Amino acid sequence: MTGETIDKQTVMNAVEKAVQRYGASRDELIPILNDVNRSLGYIPAEAIEEISKLLKVSRSQLFTVASFYHMLSTKPRGKHVIQFCESAPCHVAGGREVWVTLKDTLKLESGETSPDGLWTLITTSCLGVCGVGPVILVDDDIYGNVTPDQIAGILARYH
Ligand code: FES
Repeated sequence: MTGETIDKQTVMNAVEKAVQRYGASRDELIPILNDVNRSLGYIPAEAIEEISKLLKVSRSQLFTVASFYHMLSTKPRGKHVIQFCESAPCHVAGGREVWVTLKDTLKLESGETSPDGLWTLITTSCLGVCGVGPVILVDDDIYGNVTPDQIAGILARYH
């Protein structure tokens, strides 16, 4: 789902489903936020409000959690989210050149969404596949041993 406004009922349904799935417990906060983020593309303010009520967690705490985890966003994101691993093993494997190429190709900085709503570019910490660094994740597709000259070809697979 992209950056268009999501109607309230859809937001409520997504929250309800996630809370039913994991239970209305603070311990399940991350999976619940993650589920809502996955189904709506981000976590709208109405969802924060509702989760806050159901789990009895303050809104500010929810915003703090959401901003701490790279995979979560409280702002609408592009149709495709590119996560670039910025941890040291990927960095020394040539990550910096890949990052520069990604930014130049997309004309985006970390955390930005392209004006056409197609891309959001974010950095992330280790994705757990350091042996094949540099690593990028486009939506759920993981790419390893990425070189700068592969970037255009990878991006071309997504519309
Ligand atoms: S450091 Fe990049 S995947 Fe682990």
